[in-house]
Amino acid sequence: MITSNSIGIFDSGIGGLTIYKELKQLMPNESFLYVADSNNAPYGEKTDDEIKRLSFVNTQFLVDHGVKLVVVACNTATTAAIKSLRKSFSTPFVGIEPAIKPAAEQSTRKKVGILATKGTLNSSLFHETYQRFGKDIELTTQVGSGLVQLIENGNMYSSAMTELLKRYLQPMIDSEVDHLVLGCTHYPFLKDQIQALTPKEIELVDSGKAVAKQAERLLRQYALSNSDPETKLDTFFVNGVDNVLYQFIKKWDLAPFKINSL
Ligand code: DGL
Repeated sequence: MITSNSIGIFDSGIGGLTIYKELKQLMPNESFLYVADSNNAPYGEKTDDEIKRLSFVNTQFLVDHGVKLVVVACNTATTAAIKSLRKSFSTPFVGIEPAIKPAAEQSTRKKVGILATKGTLNSSLFHETYQRFGKDIELTTQVGSGLVQLIENGNMYSSAMTELLKRYLQPMIDSEVDHLVLGCTHYPFLKDQIQALTPKEIELVDSGKAVAKQAERLLRQYALSNSDPETKLDTFFVNGVDNVLYQFIKKWDLAPFKINSL
């Protein structure tokens, strides 16, 4: 087994980059190994069994590369697979779930919208979270079909994207939500466009910072943090087209990196 002392991250594609960015900003001393399973995106339209199977393949790859922690940077994979992953691997895991709790707490109108994949919104983990934190709010849910594909295909800024967003956001505007939860790690890429299409008073909420803090806490708890301040190389494994991924990592300029095919 290769021991890399890195933090492993996986997603169905480039969505998890929004989490990688938060992790790297919070923990610049850490190196990261990222798996983008773009050939199999979107996960959100697949069965639970299929999402579990793909999540096991991604995790096994990261574990074989000696990662010390796995961040499941995908709401859909977390809801479908994290319980089984925790049972099967001894590596610590951090997952991501839609930020219903903070949105419900902060909402003054007690009206919250959530945009997520079909897999996430239909999952029992989502319903458990909603039962715990969302009972006192009116929740408007919307499946974001098609958004992930447009982002993965490099068509983030397109008339097709604008049309879909308008269609998905209108019910939230009509219900007068004051908080909108971005319940898929691909969606923070759409923040500017969503803000341009919604009234100013709607706050967009995502879980990226909370996930990064949880990862940092776990590393400290297991005494796995890396304190060597030398700049670390991050490695991205992609099995689809890598140009969209490359553009973002290059633009953010967070660390030296290399991209390998998966
Ligand atoms: N980025 C993922 C999520 O957070 C998955 C999107 C998809 O592949 O459908 O749900």
